[in-house]
Amino acid sequence: MKKLKHLFENNMEWAKDIHEKNPNFFCDLSKQQNPEYLWIGCSDSRVPANQIVNLPPGEVFVHRNIANVVVHSDLNCLSVIQYAVEVLKVKHIIVCGHYGCGGVKASMEDEDHGLIDNWLCHIKDVERFNANELEGLDECEKLDRMCELNVIEQVSNVNNTSVVRNARGAGAELSVHGWIYNINNGILKDLDVCIAGR
Ligand code: CO
Repeated sequence: MKKLKHLFENNMEWAKDIHEKNPNFFCDLSKQQNPEYLWIGCSDSRVPANQIVNLPPGEVFVHRNIANVVVHSDLNCLSVIQYAVEVLKVKHIIVCGHYGCGGVKASMEDEDHGLIDNWLCHIKDVERFNANELEGLDECEKLDRMCELNVIEQVSNVNNTSVVRNARGAGAELSVHGWIYNINNGILKDLDVCIAGR
């Protein structure tokens, strides 16, 4: 018996649909990928990279983790950035957070969440770095702002990676963008912290 049969049915329909619109789509794409964008986003199921920006397979290289964090010692994320920049030669790296992020919220709580608290420490740092600005905000405002500040911090972390610095040093055109997605209405907002560089 096939497990999760409905997902395989969905897949057949999806592949058929694309094939009907463009019979060469999968064949062309199987030869190479040439995405212009690297998306670093939250694992949250409500924030699917390609769908939000309405782009088909092949257009976005994606890395997702809890609360879209870029840690300088995370070999997983750094390897994705290296491959995207050095091999795929993406022109844009987008760090996309979202309002109502459960990871950001959990980082602001005192209770024990288990292993994940070690990951969330990186977001606790963001709270500490911005303590003055966050003072006086109510709980909702503080979570919203923390979701934004976390993106801004991670943009800065991407810019500081050796991969991005070396690529720019070698003349690559590479912009790093900070965006935030509103899960209540599906709309993206640019946080205007883009660093474009050569
Ligand atoms: Co999230």
